[in-house]
Amino acid sequence: MTNVPILKIEHLGHAYGKFQVINDISLEIPKGELTALIGPNGAGKTTFYNVVSGRFPPSKGKVFFDGQEITGRPAHKIVPLGMLRSFQITNIFPELSVRENVLIPLLLQHRRGYTFFRPLSREKQLYQKADEVLSKIGILEYGDKPARELAYGDKRLVEMAIVLARKPKLVLLDEPTAGMNPEETERMILLIKELAERFGTTFFLTEHDMKVVFSIAKQIFVLHQGGLLATGTPEEIRASPQVREAYLGGGTIKC
Ligand SMILES: Nc1ncnc2c1ncn2[C@@H]1O[C@H](COP(=O)(O)OP(=O)(O)OP(=O)(O)O)[C@@H](O)[C@H]1O
Ligand SMILES: [Mg+2]
Repeated sequence: MTNVPILKIEHLGHAYGKFQVINDISLEIPKGELTALIGPNGAGKTTFYNVVSGRFPPSKGKVFFDGQEITGRPAHKIVPLGMLRSFQITNIFPELSVRENVLIPLLLQHRRGYTFFRPLSREKQLYQKADEVLSKIGILEYGDKPARELAYGDKRLVEMAIVLARKPKLVLLDEPTAGMNPEETERMILLIKELAERFGTTFFLTEHDMKVVFSIAKQIFVLHQGGLLATGTPEEIRASPQVREAYLGGGTIKC
C-alpha cells in the first residue's frame, strides 16, 4: 500500500445553493509530499478543504484517503482515520493553558472525559505526550501559560501542536502563516519542513505568500474560479503563462 496516494480526489464539485464554488477538481497527493494549493482570493481553496475534510458533503465527485473512499463522511469520522486540518482563523481555547489545549484532543482520542480533578498521575502518559509535542514544536516553555497570553505566531504554533498530537497522516493547513510577521513566518516554514522530513507527515497547505510556497512545496496545484488551472513543480508553476494570467489579470495575491 506504500504507493497508494494519501489523498485522491476525483471530479470534486461543491455548490453553495446555485453558486458552483468548486468544479470538477481531480488531483492526487503522494504520501510524504509537501504540497501547496494556491489561487487568488475567493478561488475556492477553503471550500475545497471543507469538502475534503468532511465539513460539507461534495455535490459531485469522490474523495479517497489512504486508499479508502471517504466521500460524504462527516469530519468526526474522517479525523480518526488520520486526516486533520487547521483553520484560516486561529482556533484554540484562549482561557486554557497551552498544555491543556494539546491535552484535550489527546484525552478525547483516548475516550476519557476531561476533568481538572482527576489525579495527575493517572494522566501522566498523556501529559508526557502533550509535552513531547510542545517540545517538538518549540513551545514547551509556554506549557503553563494561558493560550491567550501568547503572541499571534505562537498561538498558531499551539494550533499546530493540537493537530500533531493526534499523529495525523495528512494535515490540511489553511494559510498557516496568515497574519504572521516575517520571523514568525520563517519559523513556521522551517517547522513544517522539518516535521515533514522527520516524521513523514504529509502536509497540504494553502498559502498566499509565493515566497513561502516556492520555498516549501514539492508540488503545487493552482485553483482559479473553482477549477484546477495548473499542476506542477514550483519551477513549472512559476513559468506557467496561465498562472501569471490568473493572478495578474484576475484576482490579487495577499502578500
Ligand atoms: N458559506 C458560504 N456560502 C456562500 N458562499 C460562500 C460560502 N463560503 C464561501 N463562499 C464563496 O465561495 C467562494 C470561494 O470561497 P473560499 O473561501 O473557498 O475561497 P478561498 O480561495 O479560500 O479565498 P481566500 O483566499 O480569500 O481565503 C467565494 O466567492 C466565497 O464568497
Ligand atoms: Mg480561504
